[in-house]
Amino acid sequence: MKNEIIAEFSNISKIYKIKQFCSSRRNIALKNFNFDIKRGEIVGLLGLNGAGKTTVMKLLAGLIFPSSGEILIGGINPIFSGAKQKIGFLPELPYFYPYMTCIEILTYYAKLSGFKEYKGKINKVIDKVGLTWHTSKKISEYSKGMMQRLGLAQAVLHEPELLILDEPVSGLDPLAVHDVRNLIAGINKEGTTVFLSSHSISELEKICHRVIILSLGGIVKTVECDAWKTAGGLEKIFINSIKGGEEVRKR
Ligand SMILES: Nc1ncnc2c1ncn2[C@@H]1O[C@H](COP(=O)(O)OP(=O)(O)O)[C@@H](O)[C@H]1O
Ligand SMILES: [Mg+2]
Repeated sequence: MKNEIIAEFSNISKIYKIKQFCSSRRNIALKNFNFDIKRGEIVGLLGLNGAGKTTVMKLLAGLIFPSSGEILIGGINPIFSGAKQKIGFLPELPYFYPYMTCIEILTYYAKLSGFKEYKGKINKVIDKVGLTWHTSKKISEYSKGMMQRLGLAQAVLHEPELLILDEPVSGLDPLAVHDVRNLIAGINKEGTTVFLSSHSISELEKICHRVIILSLGGIVKTVECDAWKTAGGLEKIFINSIKGGEEVRKR
């Protein structure tokens, strides 16, 4: 259904409380964050380091909880399994047991998802992410690009409706960036909604239909792809949206 909302953030704030010896401190990571993701979109979350991107991703994946406000995925709170079944999540720093192979790892995830027949699914996903030639290697032998491909494979194995990717191309070489970008675009063409974060303007403008600019835990602008195409690129819009925020420079 066109314009169907798949995920929504209503008035979300997130405050991390940090306990010190005799006192505690508060880090305000997000304030009054309101946003919808529509089915079929590729939406980017763009912001400098510390803007709050990972916090948004973890909240949507149900790994942390908002201090106030409500998040819904297909009408369900992300803490419930009904919502978790709908999402695939690639964290900023994926970790896999170093002494296992990608087939062993994906088998573990397939069993966790409750699949009985999973061999064909695993072979298909390994092929899709381009790990076919690396199935006999242990994860300890993997490059950063191969780890990211495996991270994507575990995120899409159960064919989620919404794919959440935290900095999916960060630290990759140009060829791996190109491959991962094509992979994400292909997954979206097959019908999966994609929500990804990045601090790379050029990456997001190549792939996204819409970008949210986040600064100091608040949305400063939402930009449609047509708008940055007519404005001569997303960089200008991004710099204009965050400049003047002297606090940003002090961080
Ligand atoms: N576990 C945590 N405890 C305390 N503060 C945190 C924690 N995680 C993130 N923060 C703070 O929240 C803010 C946003 O962080 P984060 O969401 O990681 O930003 P980004 O992913 O955009 O770099 C930062 O000020 C960061 O220091
Ligand atoms: Mg982050």
